[in-house]
Amino acid sequence: MRTSNFKVQSSKLRAQSSNVGRRFAEVFGGEPAAVVRAPGRVNLIGEHTDYNDGYVLPVAIDRSVLVAAAPRDDRQVVIHALDFGESATFSLDDIEHDQAKIWSNYQRGVAYFLEERGIRLPGLNALVVGDVPIGSGLSSSAAVEVSMAYTWQVLSGFELSRVELALLCQRAENEFVGMNCGIMDQFVSALGQRDHALLIDCRSLEYQPVPLPPEAAVVVADTMKRRGLVDSEYNTRRQECEGGVRILQRYLPQVQALRDVSTDQFGEYKGQLPEKVRQRCRHIIYENERVLKSVAALQAGDLAAFGRLMNESHASLRDDYEVSCLELDIMAEAAWKVDGVYGSRMTGAGFGGCTVSLVAEGAIEDFRAQVAATYEEATGIVPQIYVCRAEDGVGEVSPVNFRLGITSRSQPER
Ligand code: GLA
Repeated sequence: MRTSNFKVQSSKLRAQSSNVGRRFAEVFGGEPAAVVRAPGRVNLIGEHTDYNDGYVLPVAIDRSVLVAAAPRDDRQVVIHALDFGESATFSLDDIEHDQAKIWSNYQRGVAYFLEERGIRLPGLNALVVGDVPIGSGLSSSAAVEVSMAYTWQVLSGFELSRVELALLCQRAENEFVGMNCGIMDQFVSALGQRDHALLIDCRSLEYQPVPLPPEAAVVVADTMKRRGLVDSEYNTRRQECEGGVRILQRYLPQVQALRDVSTDQFGEYKGQLPEKVRQRCRHIIYENERVLKSVAALQAGDLAAFGRLMNESHASLRDDYEVSCLELDIMAEAAWKVDGVYGSRMTGAGFGGCTVSLVAEGAIEDFRAQVAATYEEATGIVPQIYVCRAEDGVGEVSPVNFRLGITSRSQPER
């Protein structure tokens, strides 16, 4: 069943889709049969909690990856990445990891796991373009995966719920690309909702849209420091959390993940944990609590409380989880000083990338000016600052700007 939710209609998007249709014609000839958009994301609070079975509160944003595609008669997949000016070709009968064009491993991984599920895919020509900055912690890779999986779904009509689609994309990233991420990014790229954040329980995969306050803006400030170290440190953090669970299980046998440990229980048994593991566990256990409190604050319209929780999250990621960096700290601290800023914190995996801030509508210009000036003075780097709109998750772009080649398609259930 098709609902208006699946149609993304903003004028920016219409311009982008028209452009993508034109570029498709230049590269492949003919018109695309589908244009699909999947958003990047910014996480408001709940960092590194997803792989601990915990809670997260991300927003799907108006920065996205677009795919224009048409099916082929054979089993070849030809992908042209406009941003890299490169094409990659592979056969669906022999999907291998590409060491040279590593960007294509996201699409290869998605194809691999769709086929592994027994879905026989058509070959296709696809043009991919995006405006989610790469390596900035806004999940361009999840947007690439989700846009590709959905394109195949639109073109061949197989049944897969959006949650299953997100899980499949996460698997592609874990097992094909080799990045051991949690479920947050793919989930919100698939299921995000316009004007809402999404509270996700990363254990049950239940989710709840939480309306964003109209009087405040979600502002992303990019340090322009591209994430380094992130893969190895990310895996180390995961192992430290798992190590903490193993020790706590000696005293609390029902504990499966840090999600199951209350702050009171942590207080009782923290002395059993080695210092670094204790710090990591403290971040996760309190961060889960902060997510739930922050949702309650948003629902009560208490933006000041929400902002305080964001600030506490940053301090905890900096001091206990140790995934911030000088640039992120300077950016967050600069934001804390601006009148009208409710809260500000690093967002995403860390070690570079962006901060996210909740800013009163009337304070956005002050934020831009003051944060940019302080950051540039301290680092010599000009940051990029933009106000984000919360958008819907993946969808087919309204066919305003190109003729549809295929008329009957099944749409997945939410
Ligand atoms: C990356 C991962 C997510 C999540 C965040 C940290 O974005 O892809 O699964 O773990 O880091 O919250």
